[in-house]
Amino acid sequence: MLRERFALSRLPEELRGFGDPRTALLGRPRVPAGARLAPAPERVHAFGHLGMRPTEAFLRRLCGYRATHGDVVRLRFGGITGHLISDPELVRVVLQERHRLYSKATRGILKLRLVLGLGLLTAEGESWLRNRRIAQPAFARRRLEGFAERMAAAGEAMVAGWRDGEVLDAHGEMNAVTLRIVSETMFGADLGHLAGEVAAAVSVVTNDVNQRMRSLVELPLAVPTPQNQRFTKAMDTLDRIVLGLIQERRREPPGTRDDLLAMLMEARDVDTGEGMSDTQLRDEVMTIFLAGHETTANALSWTLLLLSRHPESARRLREEVDAVLAGGRTPTHEDVAKLPYATRVVQESMRLYPPAWMVSRAPTRDDELGGYFIPKGSLIFVSPFVVHRHVDHWPDPERFDPDRFFPDAVAARHRMAYFPFGGGPRLCIGQGFAMMEAVLLLAIMVRGWRLDLRPGHTVPLEPLITLRPEGGLPMTAVRR
Ligand code: HEM
Repeated sequence: MLRERFALSRLPEELRGFGDPRTALLGRPRVPAGARLAPAPERVHAFGHLGMRPTEAFLRRLCGYRATHGDVVRLRFGGITGHLISDPELVRVVLQERHRLYSKATRGILKLRLVLGLGLLTAEGESWLRNRRIAQPAFARRRLEGFAERMAAAGEAMVAGWRDGEVLDAHGEMNAVTLRIVSETMFGADLGHLAGEVAAAVSVVTNDVNQRMRSLVELPLAVPTPQNQRFTKAMDTLDRIVLGLIQERRREPPGTRDDLLAMLMEARDVDTGEGMSDTQLRDEVMTIFLAGHETTANALSWTLLLLSRHPESARRLREEVDAVLAGGRTPTHEDVAKLPYATRVVQESMRLYPPAWMVSRAPTRDDELGGYFIPKGSLIFVSPFVVHRHVDHWPDPERFDPDRFFPDAVAARHRMAYFPFGGGPRLCIGQGFAMMEAVLLLAIMVRGWRLDLRPGHTVPLEPLITLRPEGGLPMTAVRR
């Protein structure tokens, strides 16, 4: 399975070569005479920004570049040119208007394929479109309503396990409950008990993928370096779990279920009548399994941290939740619309700490953005973390203020000034799922508990593939 995952020949035609590091690292882009180059900050070192450690300082540096150099900033990563694009209108152009020109075949996605293979997040072209159409019905509004009950039940089970005054790793709790929810709703299996094992493996693979994205030299996985061995072991854990889900389902008579796994397994190619191969299934399931829990867990962790730092917002939230869930009942999908402040809190939290902090693309031919030359073979970075702090669109950007998401305020802003779920055809398929899940879980926690960050504890940002609280989130659970 592993060897197959890494074979270049598995890449669709349009991606071969382009995202291949052997070509991506070679040569500088050809710049036509008279082309206007975007301003570039001083190089950090000989290889430009390649190899910079993913820290909060790095994120702040990117925000600083936007402030000093503008909405199109030229960066160097070894031999590769990258542009940081921070004007919401240009973000729209890249993700939506010219999405055909801006491919996902970036170095980062190539590395991510070591984990996700060619699932929805990492595939392009025909195979992506076909599988997106197969998966889409699993996220339809009518189905989401049906998931609310299971989401709430998982939330209730989580808080039932808390003891008054105990210090919890709130981030670990969020990972466990979101893992349980995605595995129950999408694959009909409760994997909540494997949360610790999954979180440890996810940590290893995301650190590893991040390091591979940043490094100039990388030994093939077959070379048994300690890093490669750690990665292979973590991937074996994830593969075992995901393949176990698929094998278990194969033992059931067809037509027993109607969840995402059933849709994927029953889908047939219109021309050949063939179903998905084991590898294709594995890639799709792994993608939803990982993309469908860690992001929402991060969003909730940052929300809890912000609430512990902003007692006035926490008070308003408690009042809303107490009024809607009078008598301490469990929230339903109908309650989500009655919890607008909770929704705004989650939105504002994802403004300041967007779980997917960076989205990248690769221009497949020369282009111009904001009047600057964008060469084929370079990289485009659109960062929600940076754009969500753009002073032209977000006054006093560091201030936590959920009321920025009142409908009038939202309507007055550029649509892409806020894009935690991306945009255009590759918009997150789980957006509605994640928002409903986050609001329901938040309401259940706030209804009975207050979570206080352990005094004196600082929470560094860890921008790997997702933006996480480094070292977890130790919080004291106080029963209300
Ligand atoms: C707060 C939670 C979440 C955030 C912030 C988030 C963010 C994103 C972003 C920014 C993208 C676009 C990436 C790009 O354009 O390169 C994306 C794509 C995707 N997300 Fe999410 N996501 C979240 C939750 C979920 C959930 C719950 C699921 C599934 C259950 C999911 C599944 C996916 C998939 C499959 C894609 C690829 C879609 C495609 O290209 O067709 N995500 N997500």
